[in-house]
Amino acid sequence: MSTTRDYINSNRHDFYNDGFLDLEKCPEHPFHLFESWLEVAIQKEVNEPYAFNLATVDEDGKPHARILYVRDLMDQDLVFYTNYGSDKGQQVLKNPQACMTFFWPELSRQIRLEGVVERLDDTLSDAYFASRPRGSQIGAWASEQSKVLESRDQLEARIKELEVRFEGQNVPRPNHWGGYRFKPSYYEFWLGHPSRLHDRLAYTHENLSWIKRRLNP
Ligand SMILES: Cc1cc2nc3c(=O)[nH]c(=O)nc-3n(C[C@H](O)[C@H](O)[C@H](O)COP(=O)(O)O)c2cc1C
Repeated sequence: MSTTRDYINSNRHDFYNDGFLDLEKCPEHPFHLFESWLEVAIQKEVNEPYAFNLATVDEDGKPHARILYVRDLMDQDLVFYTNYGSDKGQQVLKNPQACMTFFWPELSRQIRLEGVVERLDDTLSDAYFASRPRGSQIGAWASEQSKVLESRDQLEARIKELEVRFEGQNVPRPNHWGGYRFKPSYYEFWLGHPSRLHDRLAYTHENLSWIKRRLNP
């Protein structure tokens, strides 16, 4: 019987795409390519098109990564929401440098972004919070994200208390929860092909313009 180790050692698959990335034909501004790839991911109904990996660093330079959802695109920034007091919130307060990675296996596509994170205006966070389902709103109040929780019961008791506290009224946005804008200064578009001969197209921001280059796979 095959073990997990046998499987991960030997199971390989090729990536396929009909076309190749053409450096000349790709848009001058990478955000337009990002937007069009995201649009394709949504139209093709890939699993979790909005999910990305966010990597941040703590004050000792130690990296941390987790999956989040992108919730808006604003003036070529990507917006996500979280708890400002969470580990990631504390990390970006000290060091705003961050990386994002999207992977859409159904399309054999990956996008890597590097940039800085800035806190979103409170009025925009208020508007987004107001649009969330009530259960998520109460959850944002109840969760001290990233802190140790003694038991599941403790969290559920907090939820019950908050349901009583906010009964018959709109749930306001807690100060500890809101959005960030991610401002990319580097984009890389990866398109999978057989035999690991993938396309990689990198855009770097140099002297106020975007420079496109092809990278080795
Ligand atoms: C598919 C998926 C989407 C997620 N989306 C979010 C999100 O939008 N915001 C968020 O705070 N956490 C989200 N999470 C939970 C985070 O991965 C993470 O557990 C949490 O933000 C705490 O991270 P931190 O302790 O590094 O701050 C998501 C998890 C998954 C698996």
